[in-house]
Formats: sequence, structure tokens, C-alpha cells
Amino acid sequence: MAKKDVSLSVIRRLPRYFRLLASLKKSGIVRISSNEFSEKLGLSASQVRQDLNYFGGFGQQGYGYNVNNLYVEIGNILSVNSGMKTVLIGAGNLGRSIIKNLDSHSKNLELIGIFDKNTALVGEMISDLVVRNAQDLDDFCKEHRPLVAIVCIPNDNTKEVFSILAKNGVKGFWNFTDYNPKDDFPDVVVENVHLTDSMMTMCYRINNETDIR
Ligand code: NAI
Repeated sequence: MAKKDVSLSVIRRLPRYFRLLASLKKSGIVRISSNEFSEKLGLSASQVRQDLNYFGGFGQQGYGYNVNNLYVEIGNILSVNSGMKTVLIGAGNLGRSIIKNLDSHSKNLELIGIFDKNTALVGEMISDLVVRNAQDLDDFCKEHRPLVAIVCIPNDNTKEVFSILAKNGVKGFWNFTDYNPKDDFPDVVVENVHLTDSMMTMCYRINNETDIR
């Protein structure tokens, strides 16, 4: 199981491992050598071995990895079936595409509430959930105790929203805004997502002919 001293860069590589294993499984591959596995990831075999050793290893000398076992183990480490109770704030374009994606690709999170301040959207059904008035967020959190919040609203008044969530015990924020809740709520876990960051990184790499994988 996960150890406390695992670095964030190790953790960030695990979803890549998991995605590759899912695709190998889908192709009916039962076993893969550690060299082949790491090559497909564009990493060195020792890097992969080192990463997995934090959690118990999983490979066997002369055999490599059993694809299904490793898929299950990494899935457990990443809580892929944990269904953490989640609220989503901002039922706009971004919010809707996230909901659609969660529906079809992930069981990490269980969406239990969707909130928007636009009363024209309140009452609308999205993916079997009714859009609720943002004014009811505090009461809803007190009653249902979500662990995670997905925040995809414009940058104004964001602190107020995060404050309601954090004060009600929300521990993890999948944050698409520019506001960083860590500044005001140091105990929460935040994953800031900025799609344009990777686009800019790509542009830099085009212009600088870097080929890091
Ligand atoms: P949108 O305008 O379609 O939706 C935003 C929704 O948030 C609206 O329905 C609005 O009524 C609601 N809202 C605003 N303030 C609220 C509040 N205090 N409480 C509850 N609901 C509230 O905009 P879209 O395209 O969905 O984008 C949302 C935000 O996410 C934008 O500010 C945009 O800049 C940002 N964004 C970030 C990305 C990233 O990678 N970090 C990618 C795309 C958008």
C-alpha cells in the first residue's frame, strides 16, 4: 500500500501506467517484460521498477509483470473504484464535459451534487442529477458531506465558494479556476488543472525542438 514519502512525481506517473495497462488488458496481453513495459512508457526500466517498489514491487525476475495483477494493484493505489462523494460547481460548458467524462471513464468519484448560481439552469437534469442553486451548497454539504469538489466557475467570487466547501470538510479540489485554495486553506488537497499549460508546453517544445517524452 501507499507510503507517505512517495513523491508527487512518482504519483503523477501512476495514471500513465494504469492507462497503458488498461490498453494492454484490452488487447488481451497477459504478461509483459519490464523492459517492454517501460519502453512503451518512454521511461527506463529502473525508473519504473523504482516507482513500483514504493508500493511493493509487483514484478518477478525473469517474468516481468502480470498485466491484470498490476492493473488491479495500481488501480487500488489510485482509488479507481472508491467512488468518493463529489460535488461539481459550475454547470457550464466545462462542467458538463467533465460530468460526461466522469460518467463514462471513472469510478474514482461519485458525483452527488451539481450547483450553479444561474437560476435559469437550476432544476435542469444533467446525467440523472438535478442542477441545484449555488445558494444551497452550504446546507447540502452539511447534510451529505462530500469529500471532493470539482470547481469550474469563472475566477470572480471563487474564494467564497471554496470557503464554503473547505469549511464543510471537503478535502480534495479538482480546481479549474485560477484561484489557489491552498493559499487560504492549507490543509486541503488541490489539483490545479489548466489545459492551456500543456498547450503552451507543446508550443515551447515545437520551437525548441525538444523531444522529451
Ligand atoms: P461557462 O460560462 O459555460 O460556465 C460557467 C458556469 O459557472 C455558469 O453556468 C455560471 O452560471 C456558473 N457560475 C459562475 N459563478 C458561480 C458560482 N459562484 N457558483 C456556482 N456557479 C457559478 O464557462 P465554462 O466554459 O464552463 O468555463 C468555466 C470557467 O472555467 C471559466 O472561467 C474558464 O476560464 C475556466 N476554464 C478553465 C479551464 C482550465 O483548463 N483550467 C478550461 C476551460 C475553462
